[in-house]
Amino acid sequence: MTRFELVRGNIVEQDVDAIVNAANSSLLGGGGVDGAIHEAAGPELLAACELLDGCETGAAKITPGFQLKARYVIHAVGPGYYSEPRHAELLASAYRRSLELATAHGITSIAFPAISTGIYGYPLDEAAPIAVGTVSAYVREHPAIELVRFVVWSADAEQRYQDALNNLH
Ligand code: APR
Repeated sequence: MTRFELVRGNIVEQDVDAIVNAANSSLLGGGGVDGAIHEAAGPELLAACELLDGCETGAAKITPGFQLKARYVIHAVGPGYYSEPRHAELLASAYRRSLELATAHGITSIAFPAISTGIYGYPLDEAAPIAVGTVSAYVREHPAIELVRFVVWSADAEQRYQDALNNLH
């Protein structure tokens, strides 16, 4: 059975097979999680991203992790909450497509940030149950994923995720 962990911390420091980036559709970097990951991974990450030809909202693409502890970065593009009327569907899709890439690459441990809840404005109380619910449904069908770690930045986010995890049982 897949183990779930919830930690407050920095996504770039996670020692897992893959960390997920909260990217935008250009895949060419930004602030928040995206900026931190590019800074920690080094310039080779941007060079690898430049070859990917962008990524649609709700989808994901994979690169090596370069100087990160993680072997891979999965670049997921979440929706803007206010700019995208289908935000709930697209947020779930960003998590699912990330996990599909993990499965395809034999990844057994993966760390997610709270996609779309920063610059993209998605309220945490709505995003946390989508994140936890979508991931939980996926790993029930794909038990080869042994560890999913949700990495959050704030105490408030931690509480929202804890509530969502409690509601799973
Ligand atoms: N580790 C873990 N969580 C972090 C970190 C970090 N180093 N930095 C920020 N966070 C948290 C934020 O507090 C927020 O809850 O991650 C969540 C996602 O925030 P953003 O990084 O702003 O991502 P998002 O809302 O998906 O916006 C994506 O921002 O940087 C640009 O290129 C990116 O355009 C894209 C947009």
